[in-house]
This record gives sequence, C-alpha cells and structure tokens, in this order.
Amino acid sequence: MKVCVVGAGAREHALAHVLSRDTEVVVSPGNPGIPNSTVDSPEEIGADLFVIGPEDPLVNGLADRLRKSGKKVFGPGSDGARLEGSKAWMKQVLNEAGVATARHGSFTDEKQALDFLDNMGDLFVIKTDGLAAGKGVLVTEDRAEAADAVKSYLTGDAFGDAGKTIIIEEGLTGPELSVLAICDGEQAFALSPAQDFKRIGDGDTGLNTGGMGAYSPVPIASQEIVDSIMEEAVSPTLTALQKRNIDYRGVLYCGLMFTPDGVKVLEYNVRFGDPETQVVLPRLTSSLSDLLFSAASGHLVNPPTFSTEASVTVVCAAENYPTSPKKGALIKGIDEANELAGVKVYCAGIDHTDNGFITSGGRVLSVTGCGENLDHARERAYKGVNMICWEGMQYRSDIATHPTGKEKAS
Ligand code: AMP
Ligand code: GLY
Repeated sequence: MKVCVVGAGAREHALAHVLSRDTEVVVSPGNPGIPNSTVDSPEEIGADLFVIGPEDPLVNGLADRLRKSGKKVFGPGSDGARLEGSKAWMKQVLNEAGVATARHGSFTDEKQALDFLDNMGDLFVIKTDGLAAGKGVLVTEDRAEAADAVKSYLTGDAFGDAGKTIIIEEGLTGPELSVLAICDGEQAFALSPAQDFKRIGDGDTGLNTGGMGAYSPVPIASQEIVDSIMEEAVSPTLTALQKRNIDYRGVLYCGLMFTPDGVKVLEYNVRFGDPETQVVLPRLTSSLSDLLFSAASGHLVNPPTFSTEASVTVVCAAENYPTSPKKGALIKGIDEANELAGVKVYCAGIDHTDNGFITSGGRVLSVTGCGENLDHARERAYKGVNMICWEGMQYRSDIATHPTGKEKAS
C-alpha cells in the first residue's frame, strides 16, 4: 500500500514515521526534515490512501475533491469539517447531541456580547468562530481585557473574518484531556489519550499556542473515563452528523476538561492533534495504515492497541512565537538528538539552506522521548532537547510534570 500524508508539520512527520513501519509513504508538501516529502500536490499523486493532517484543507474541501476523483481518504469532507471551521455550529451540534459543554452565546453585535460577558462569572472565555491557528481563544479573569478582545475580534482587527462572529463561554476549570477518536462514519475507536500544554510559559502562563508539549498515557484518564467519553460525546455526535447526512470518516478530536461537574467537551477538532500525535502514535502497537484504511473505507474492524510505555514530546519554538516568530536561525543538533535511545525529532517549521536547517515557522520541531514510564520518557525527551539549539529557541521545561488546566475552583 502507498499512503499520501497531506501537511507540513511535526504531526505529519509523526504520521509518516509510524505509517512507514509497514507501508510506503509520501508527504505533500512535507518539509526538508521529513523523508519522502514531495512538491507534487495531493491531486497529482497516485496513492491507495490519503491522510489529511491540517484543518484548513479539510475545511476547504480537499477530502471532497479527492473522493470525487475516486481516491480513498482519511479525513472528513467540508460538511463534517465545519465542526472545527465554525465553533458556533460545533456548539449547535453538541447541544443537539446532548453532549456536556460550557454554557455559551455567539455574537456579531458588540453591545449584546458585552452584556453577555456580565453573565459569565469571573473567568471569561472569548473565541473566534472561525479558524485562527489555535490562537483565537482568550481565557482571562480581567473583565477589561475580555471587553477589549470582544471589540478587536468583532471589528476584524485581531483575526480578520474568523473573529467577526465570536463565542463567549462560561470559564471552566480543571485538568484537560485530548481523546482522538478514529471514525468510519458510524462507529469509532478511541486512541490512547494525551494531555497537551497549550500556554507558551511554564506553569501554564502566557499566551495560548498551538501546543507546546504533550504526554501519553494520562494517569487521570482511566479506560472507564475514555469509554464514557466515547458513549456520551463521540457516539451521539456521530449520530447527530449522520442525521445531517454527514458521513464522517476521519479523526474526531475531543478537547475535554475534567470540571468539578464532570467531564465536558471544550472543543472538537476534525484532525489529529499537534503535538498529541507525536506522543500517541509512537505508542501504537497495531498497524496505523490498516486502521486508517479501514476507517476511510467505512468499515472499522480491529481496535487499535498501545504499548504500556509512555511518551513525552517537547515542542521547540522560534523566538517571539506565538506573536511574530523569527525565521532564519540556524538549527544545530537534530541528528545528534535522533541518535539518542528512545528519542525521535519530528520536524515542522524548518527550511534547508547550504549551511543546514534554519527556522521557518513558529513551532519548529517536537522532540519525543519514549520510555518505561512518564519520568523516563520525559528525561529522554529533554535529553534530546538539550542536544538541539538555535538563537532564541524557546521551550517549556515543565512538560508532563503536572496535569494542565486551571485548578481554581469554579
Ligand atoms: P479551544 O481551542 O476551544 O480548545 O481552546 C483552547 C484552550 O483554551 C483550551 O485548551 C483551554 O485551555 C482553554 N479553554 C477553552 N474553552 C475554555 C473554557 N470554556 N473554560 C476554560 N478554558 C477554556
Ligand atoms: N494540540 C491542539 C490542537 O491540535 O488543536
């Protein structure tokens, strides 16, 4: 079998790396750090299966176009991808499916939005309706900051059209969890859960990012909890999608929070998480190509199996990420890190010059360590990180030392 992975990040590198255990892989467009990257567009590539990584091409209908030309695709069409493309629509589906989620309102009018803020307790959450590369969410206790965000989102100053409709949500508190469900349109299998560290700074401080690190498995997420998430969130959501004639074949990524009132869905994404993929997939002991091919064919058969080992990934980001990442810094040490036992570097925002790799994006690479337990995996991941450097490299030093999420009582 030949699989084409679409995308250019560390998530796609991890997908390609794990798929290549038992299948031929090309990555379009990939990047200079991912083997078998090609400049050919997916539409020009002959492959038995297409696995689409990022949300933008899914929302923009790449899966539909490929399916129309007879290709087998793992990734929802633009109808199902709306779950991520519009948070207002996602909330409608969640409510219709009876899935526990934060109370919310959606707004295009500033006065109505500001009035609603006053109903929201002392933790304010403002989100863009549309895609904002994981940066369109503000969580703050400062009413004035929340009001400023409402204004700058709605005028389009902050996030262009993506913010011209906003969601204001009740602020929830508790540890977070990511559960990635592999769906074939009717049924779904959960992958082993992960926890993602979204803020830029140690101790969950500073701006939200696309994700600065992750670990798997997650001790607080027992099999019983994962089963209940599948029964109470994923299944009813797939049913609600089917009612709308949406044949959802791809990942349904559940972003969850353990609140004092139970587990609630914060968001759905329609793709593999980044950096969750870099910790979940290395632990897979069954065939990824079989799993994704059977989901894409509408017939999931064998549930995935996972090693009892743990993994931790640390994202290394460019100077000034997430506001205005600095490009062009010379990267050293990737090969040396890859030589360490249990360490694998997954490349994202990098480019190649005659002098070697340079930074070319915000999240530059992820260093994954696998080991007997979380401590061992973390030690290996940071050993890898310590081999790598460039001017202004940033990373968190507390990945997998504590669960993420605000612990303040709500
Ligand atoms: P989202 O893109 O909706 O997952 O939001 C990104 C991050 O913002 C989440 O991982 C949480 O850390 C935080 N967040 C989102 N919604 C809420 C909420 N209702 N209450 C508290 N934090 C939230
Ligand atoms: N790690 C968060 C995401 O993939 O959206």
